[in-house]
Order: sequence, then C-alpha cells, then structure tokens
Amino acid sequence: MHKDNQIFIDACFMKPVNRTPIWIMRQAGRYLPEYRNIRSKNSFHEMMHTPDLMAEVTLLPMNRFDLDASIMFSDILVVPESLGMKFELVPKVGPVFKTSISSSRDIEKLNFDHSYFKNIYNGIKKIRNTLDKTKSLIGFAGTPWTTACYMVEGKPSKDYMKIRSLMYNDYESFDLLMRKITDATISYIREQINSGVNAVQIFDSNGVYISKKNFIKYSLPYIKEIINFINSQNIPSIYYAKGLCDSPDLIMQTNSNVLGIDWSVELSKVKSATKGLVALQGNLDPAILLCPNNVIKSETEKVLQSFGKGSGHIFNLGHGITPNVRPESVEYLVQQVREMSSKNYE
Ligand code: CP3
Repeated sequence: MHKDNQIFIDACFMKPVNRTPIWIMRQAGRYLPEYRNIRSKNSFHEMMHTPDLMAEVTLLPMNRFDLDASIMFSDILVVPESLGMKFELVPKVGPVFKTSISSSRDIEKLNFDHSYFKNIYNGIKKIRNTLDKTKSLIGFAGTPWTTACYMVEGKPSKDYMKIRSLMYNDYESFDLLMRKITDATISYIREQINSGVNAVQIFDSNGVYISKKNFIKYSLPYIKEIINFINSQNIPSIYYAKGLCDSPDLIMQTNSNVLGIDWSVELSKVKSATKGLVALQGNLDPAILLCPNNVIKSETEKVLQSFGKGSGHIFNLGHGITPNVRPESVEYLVQQVREMSSKNYE
C-alpha cells in the first residue's frame, strides 16, 4: 500500500487493506464538549455556513480520535433550504420549517438557488487543505425520499404520513417534488466533489417509512440517479439504508459501492446475501457506546466477526452517535477496532 493511500477509500472499493477502517455517523456533534462550547456561541446555521467554523467543527473528532474518515459538518436539510424552504432548530423538537408543503402550488414554487451552497464549498476546500492526506473527507446529502419527508411534514414526525398520502393521492406533484430534490442534490454533490470530498454518503434515515414495494417505484429511481452520478465521478458512493437492511436484494439495486447497514440486522447475513459484490459499513448498535468498556469490546468483536475475513468492511455505528455518549468510550472503540480487526486480514 502506498503511504498516502486512504484506507477508507480502499475498503469502499474492496481493495486489500490490513485492518478495518472506522468513522462514526454524527461524529462531529453534541457528545463532544468542544462542539457544545462552539455551539453555545453560534447558531447551527452560522456553524454550517461560516467556512472557518464548519472546518473547525468537522475536524474536532479528527483531532481527538484516530478515525480514518471525516464527514463534513452540515445537514441533509440544506437541500430544502436551497429550494427556498428555511428551517430553524427548535430545542427538544429538532428542525422545524417556517412553512411546509401543503399543495401542488407549493411544490411548483420551489426554486433552486445554487449560490446558497457557496460557503459550504469554501468550507470543504478548507477542510481538505488541513486534513491529513491519508484521511478521507466524506460529503453527503439525504435521499430524495428522506428529504421530502421533512419538507412535506415540516418537522420531525413519528410516522411521516403526509408524504405517503401525497404519493398515493397525487403522483404528479410527488414526482415533481422528488425531481426537484434529485436535481438540486446532484448539483450539490457535483460541487462537493469539485471542492474536494473523497466519497459521498446518501442518508436514507427515513427509509423505514416506505413499504418495500413502494420503495421500488417511489424512492429507488431517484436514489439510483444520484448514486449513478457519484459513480460516474469515480469516487465511492455509500447508501445508508435505515429500515431496509433486511432486504439486501432491494438496496443493492441502488448500485452503490458501499451499503451502510443499520443495527437491526446481522452483517454476516447481509454479506452472504450480497455475495461479496458490495462493501458494507456498520453496524454497532449506538446504545453499546453507553455501556462499560468490557461490553463495548465484546460487542465490537461480534460485529468484526460477523463480517469475518476479507476486505470490504468499514466499521461504523448502525445509526448516529447520541449526545449522551462519553468521548472516552469513542476513544476506546476506535482503539479496539484498530487492534482487533487486523486478524481478519491475515
Ligand atoms: O455526521 C456528522 O457529524 C456530520 C454532520 C451531520 C449532521 N446532521 C449534524 C447535525 C449529518 C451527517 C447530519 C445528517 C442528518 N440530519 C440526518 C441523517 C442522519 C441521521 O442521523 O439519520 C437527518 C435525519 C438530519 C436532520 C436533522 N438535523 C435532525 C433530525 C436534527 C435534530 C437532531 C436532534 O437529535 O436534535 C438535526 C440537527 C443536527 N444536525 C445536529 C447536528 C450536530 C444537532 C445540532 C445542535 O443542536 O447543535
């Protein structure tokens, strides 16, 4: 291996590596006291749109832990903002849009403003200039389905019923909404890549709110368009498939290089069902990081053993890290993955 190789990228492309690379979803977030300190002085939007702050927050976990990849600090809901829908983070509720989509007219009015992203692209350039060459920078966006769930509901929901009723009731408007999100997302990702990201993850965190049958018609085609675009740029595409991981045949149809696996399934089962054709990322239950070190160690070993021998595994949690995790537990996890994983490559 060349010394400047990024082990994370090699694992995404299933090339030989000598240990399992690791990064953590939501690693640049509230469990870090440094994050809470910066956040106490700045709004979430200031942090996303001030290149120096965005770069600083992105690099916080990289300064503390021996992670192999960095995910840019931002949010999936910047895409609705670029289409004219602004949100606010409301304490104890989450992101709430000023207005939500309630008619076909609201969808027709959505108008993409590419200049909205300019500070994010400048932030990416700063991060890539600072980050060690052997570490990868991951860009991201939400899937059109997951993004649209928030736009139609206007806020976090326990069931996201509004988007499903729109889908059944007015396919034309639904398709126009998905089309606008898909086109904005592809423009956004194209420029993330031009600015320096080394891989792109597409979050389908609300994949659990669509039936498998409807996924094929109403969500997959738009995801495939985005993934095919990423693949055309010769960098790894990662599809995080929350709630759909018990259907590997379905999620493989996205054409992504890597499948991000949630914590509800066994990696060994997904690996055999996907026949070694794609790399797998995941899938430690985030709750394990709230346990003592001996539990972290034994459960981490189970995840590594479940994937078993060979390249094509990227260690991660099965969903984002939660704000109540102690940073010391993350440090222990990273160290354990480094130490224990090398025997899978002998
Ligand atoms: O992973 C990282 O560290 C990079 C940054 C990142 C954030 N959001 C920062 C953030 C990423 C990759 C996301 C993605 C995201 N955003 C998703 C998909 C991933 C997932 O976890 O399922 C979703 C669904 C969102 C929408 C969103 N943004 C929600 C639901 C919330 C509220 C979360 C909560 O628990 O309150 C946010 C806000 C948000 N995005 C925070 C952070 C660090 C918290 C901001 C704060 O209060 O300081």
